[in-house]
Formats: sequence, structure tokens, C-alpha cells
Amino acid sequence: MGGGSKPLGHLTDVEAAITSGVPGLHLVGLPDAALNEARDRVRAAIFNSGEDWPNRHVTVSLFPASLPKRGSIFDLSIAIALLAAAEAVPPKACAGLVMIGELGLDGRIRAIPGVLPAVVAAANAGYTSVVVPQANSAEAELVPDLKVIAAASLRSLLCHLRDEPPPVEEDDDAPPLRPAPDSADRRSGLDLSDVRGQAEARRALEISAAGGHHLFFSGPPGCGKTMLAERLPTLLPPLEPDAALEVTAIHSVAGTLPPGQPLITRSPFCAPHHTATRAAMVGGGAGRVIQPGAASLAHRGILFLDEAPEYMGGVLDALRQPLEEGEVRIARSEGTACFPARFTLVLAANPCPCAAAKEVDCSCAPAIRRRYLARISGPLLDRIDLKLELHPATRAELRYDLEFAESSDVVAERVLTARDRTAKRLAETPWRSNAEIPGPELRRRFTPPPEAMRAADDALMRGTLSARGLDRVLRVAWTIADLAGRDQPSEDDVGGALALWTGRRP
Ligand SMILES: Nc1ncnc2c1ncn2[C@@H]1O[C@H](COP(=O)(O)OP(=O)(O)OP(=O)(O)O)[C@@H](O)[C@H]1O
Ligand SMILES: [Mg+2]
Ligand SMILES: [Zn+2]
Repeated sequence: MGGGSKPLGHLTDVEAAITSGVPGLHLVGLPDAALNEARDRVRAAIFNSGEDWPNRHVTVSLFPASLPKRGSIFDLSIAIALLAAAEAVPPKACAGLVMIGELGLDGRIRAIPGVLPAVVAAANAGYTSVVVPQANSAEAELVPDLKVIAAASLRSLLCHLRDEPPPVEEDDDAPPLRPAPDSADRRSGLDLSDVRGQAEARRALEISAAGGHHLFFSGPPGCGKTMLAERLPTLLPPLEPDAALEVTAIHSVAGTLPPGQPLITRSPFCAPHHTATRAAMVGGGAGRVIQPGAASLAHRGILFLDEAPEYMGGVLDALRQPLEEGEVRIARSEGTACFPARFTLVLAANPCPCAAAKEVDCSCAPAIRRRYLARISGPLLDRIDLKLELHPATRAELRYDLEFAESSDVVAERVLTARDRTAKRLAETPWRSNAEIPGPELRRRFTPPPEAMRAADDALMRGTLSARGLDRVLRVAWTIADLAGRDQPSEDDVGGALALWTGRRP
């Protein structure tokens, strides 16, 4: 599992045949070394479940729909196909059954990553029942109109297929999944009212949350860049049901579903460290198993890159393709894997590597300062809608502004209202937020009236605004209008969007 385009899962047909010939199990269809290990696991599991190993020439053929995949997911179907061919289980009981699971040598069925997309693929292909590891059953039950058979062991599954009473089971000791990346749920202690002053930055967060626009905070250490960015998730509404399934499917593949929380309903917040490799950022990995990267784990949520210039060469620019296309494609000799990656990018950076609190204390030569921020490339900056240079809150703000600081709930309410306006306007389109509207559509169907476009026209003429920049300005202008409850962007809305796009480039 884990490869392919749009739906993350694929079906594989597994057939077993017993023929005359040298006794043994022959696996056909997958050259993966993992499948040879599967043979050993299947043999041990069958033996340890008290079943007879058919002492015949058995051929099990797998017809994979696509690569890459991990072999262990087929253990269960191989074992059952084998036993059905040997007439140890009634073939009728397993006809049309989709089976997903890895076998332990003792016959236990172990939890595996990627169950949700696999089950979605089964349902889409018209199957009505699916066998999954018991530890993954909550995930599988998210898919409507599908009978989920949760199996803890090969033994108990065989009893089920034979219509026998279930055996007494031991506890499943499947390895715990890796912890989930920070999600909005776990950060619920944060609130925008913790931030004093910084009116422009709070406004930029609100615009970003309402329209899904990318954001760049620069400014001296301690001015609150990290603090502000971490509060963006508190402004976002819960995920729509279909988005929740998409997000959960990715985290299922990555093995990052929070235990006991099968459906992710909040926008993910993913903040990979600046030592992250290219593979950790956009996906990849050794051999056939391709893992989604931070860009996909942040799908329909936020990808926060703190201290952005510190990331290794090429890692930031690897994000340009997903930023354009909303998905990551990873080419391998076996085929191309494709993971959704539609995220809001949030960057934070100090203006220089010495990170002096005050500009007067900075010991960096001007050329070094310039080079430092230039590590965030022009083409990447071009794709950032909202660029803001922060200054530390004044002492007066820090002391007195607390009572004026709006809470996340109040801002989130405005964000939700604005998103509803956007959704109504985009009702007949596949897009949900202003950030998603493709450039040509934007220019054809969502052009503000000419009199609102004056500032943007000027900037285009002066060359301070690129064509790509214009699209971004228009999208943000629509979001500003949606937040204000206007039917169309005004001249001020376009002007405000333009100022945010230009930023004050340090
Ligand atoms: N506007 C503010 N309101 C309240 N607290 C603030 C504000 N600005 C800064 N602080 C305090 O300063 C601390 C440092 O802020 P933060 O870590 O967000 O700064 P930063 O800009 O990310 O700095 P660095 O560049 O060093 O990472 C915060 O934890 C907070 O306690
Ligand atoms: Mg910081
Ligand atoms: Zn410096």
C-alpha cells in the first residue's frame, strides 16, 4: 500500500492453486524480498495456529495494481488463500473478502500502517466486507457501508470463516504506533490572547486562517514569531468530513495516527526541525517503502518552518512543487508515488545568523545578513502571500494591551464566517478556499472591478509585482473582502493585499 495517485490505497488479487509438483510455497507476482519473509511468517503462523501445512506444491499469485508496497500487508490474504486452496476453510466464506494484515510468527494479526486508505480502496471497488487487524478496526470502521471483521489472530479468523465459536484470545501486543505530530488538539492550551500588541501579525494570521494563505514572519529574536505561528491552528475550523478522511488516510499510511483517536478532525500542525532532510520534508525513503513527508502530514493544515534559513540546502525549494500542485510526486524506477500535500506554509526567520535582540548589537557584516535571508529563495518567497516584518511589542503594549487582546474563539468565529462566504461563492467549483483557486480561473471569473485594481496595476507597471504575485494578491484581496463581508474586493482590499504580498523585504 501507500503508492499510486489520488486514492492512497490499491487492491491486489491473491489467488492460490495446489498442483502436483515439489512440495513448497511459491509466491508469484512480487519480486520483493519482503515477500520471501512473508512465506516464512505465513508458514509459522499457520503451524502455530494448529493448522496443517498443505504438503503440496502451492502457488500463490498476487496481482498488484501498482507499486510500491510493503509485503507484510499481504500475509493474511496469502495464508487464507492457501488454506482455502487446501480446503481447510470453505472457499465460499472467503470469496469476495478483502483481507489486510501482517502475521506474527505465533499467528497473531499485527497492526499495520495504511489500513484506512486500503479499506477505502476496497469500498470504492465495490467490496462489502473487509478483514483488518483488530488494532486497526476503529480506523477501518470510519468507512461507511462496509462490514469490518476485526481479527486478532489467524486462529480467530479461521473460526469466524468456519462458523465456529471464537477461541479464547490473549491480549494483542502490537507495537505502538509512532506518536502523532503536534495537532491542534494537543495545543489547545494556546490562545491568541496570549499575544499582546502585534496587531498586524494577528491580522495576518486571521487572513491566513480565513483564506489558507502562506505566511512569512521575519523579525528579531524574542519578538513573538514562534508564539504567533503556533497559535494559527486555534483559528481554524474543524476539518470537513471528507478532508478529515483524507488527512486520516495519510497519517494512517505514515503510522502517525494518535492511539485511541482513529479520525483526525482538526487541521494538522506539522513543524519539522530545521535539520529535516528532503525526504523528511516531502516524502521518500529507502527501497520500495515510500513514506509521506512533513508536507503531506501537514495536508489540510499547517506546515510551520521555524528558523527557515537554517534548513539544509534544497529542502525549502523542494516545497515549490507541492505548493504549486497540492500534492507530492516521488518517482522511482517501479513507478510514481503520489501523496496529497495541500498545506498552508508558515515561515519564521531572524534577519541574521547572530540573532541579536537589537539591531545595534548585531555583529554580522551586511553581506552576511543579506545572504542569510537569501537562503529563502526568491521563487519560494514569490509563493508566500503574506510577508510581515515584526518588531518587538513595545513595553506599553506588553503592559496594557492584555485586556484588548482578542481570544482565539472570537477570531475563529470571524474566520468561519468568512470561510462560509468563500464556500458559497465557490459552491459550483471544486475549490473550498480562496488560496485554492487556480490562476486562470481567478483571472476569468473572480476579477475585482477595475477601479479596485489601481494599486495592483501600478505595481505591475513598475515591475514590483510579478504575474504570479498578482494572482496571490487577488486571492488575498478576496479573503480580506470575505472577512469584511463585502461581495467584492474594494480598492483598499486590493491595496492591503498588495502591501502584505510585497512585505518590507529585508
Ligand atoms: N507580543 C508578545 N506578547 C506576549 N509575550 C511575548 C510577546 N512577544 C514576545 N513574548 C514573549 O517572548 C517569548 C519569545 O517569543 P518567541 O519565542 O515567539 O520569539 P521568536 O520571535 O520566535 O524568537 P526567536 O527568533 O528567538 O525564535 C515568548 O515566549 C513570550 O513569552
Ligand atoms: Mg522562534
Ligand atoms: Zn547579526
